[in-house]
Amino acid sequence: MKKFNKVLGLAGVSVLAMGTAFGPSAAFAKTVFEIAFNQPETHPQFKAMQRFGEALEERTDGEYSVQIFPNELLGAQKETVEMAQTGTIAMSLAAASLLESWNPDFVVFNLPYVFDSIEHQKQIVNDPEIVGDLYNSVADQGIVVVAAFTAGSRNVYLKDHPVHTPEDLAGQKIRVMQSQTNIDMMNMMGGNGIAMGQGEVYTAIQTGVLDGGENNEVTYWSLKHSEIAPYFSYTQHLMIPDYLVMNVDYFEDMPDDVKTIFMEELQKAANYEFEVFAEDAAKSRALAEEAGAKFNEVDLQPFRDAVRPLTEEKLTSDVTKKIYSQMHPASE
Ligand code: GCU
Repeated sequence: MKKFNKVLGLAGVSVLAMGTAFGPSAAFAKTVFEIAFNQPETHPQFKAMQRFGEALEERTDGEYSVQIFPNELLGAQKETVEMAQTGTIAMSLAAASLLESWNPDFVVFNLPYVFDSIEHQKQIVNDPEIVGDLYNSVADQGIVVVAAFTAGSRNVYLKDHPVHTPEDLAGQKIRVMQSQTNIDMMNMMGGNGIAMGQGEVYTAIQTGVLDGGENNEVTYWSLKHSEIAPYFSYTQHLMIPDYLVMNVDYFEDMPDDVKTIFMEELQKAANYEFEVFAEDAAKSRALAEEAGAKFNEVDLQPFRDAVRPLTEEKLTSDVTKKIYSQMHPASE
């Protein structure tokens, strides 16, 4: 077990021991969970985690709180999940697809057109009956998923033209997240999927290494991708949740009453984030349009048909098949 005594540099959990040597009642320890985040402070997930931290601090009389490091300050998502794994930091917010590198079963929410709506996603991704085993499946590797947030739907955007059909993606180098499933998906959609961390995308499009990317409106606008790839097409191919991934020892070391508060407040934070995301996405779209970006609707059927084999190919384990059938009871 890791103990809360690491105070040098980034230590996952900082402990500020204060008080005097004259009596235990005068001493208290404050635990600050450090969270890596790859997007700006304006992002709904940042606001949700901030609310979570405030509530945690209040309900534990100041003993537990969080410190969020936004804007990839601590590194790209894959690296910061590794930092949570080793206990260098306590938590990282990361796209669900990245967890496939730890357990391939995490593919289940990383498949195209797998959720019917954000409401459907909300029902599934924080239901312990459905996701509990999956989220704890990586505990022996040092991490657990403690909450899931929405990141809306992902859509393709290009430098030079809008996308209406898979043919419009021919020869286009599109950045995807670091997951083989995402690469395969983009290739099936007609493009050429290139995996990389989020922070490199702007320059890669600008310099022609890429022709475009795929993301939700919030990230598209806040990272200014609208400046260099102004054609945003609603392919809606993915609805990947983001996970709050936590070092398992830091989670287990919390006393039971604190764990209960921690989980209750995280659930509230996730509910809040699900409520506000769509509004932020609409605002981001409006701002991008004002700045000159063009948005277009897309007939989804040809894209659905193109990626259908991927679901069958990837849903191979009992765990993923079970979750999928719980998500789509009618397809049983
Ligand atoms: C979304 C998602 C992030 C992810 C990003 C990406 O914005 O919410 O977690 O990092 O996409 O494309 O890398």
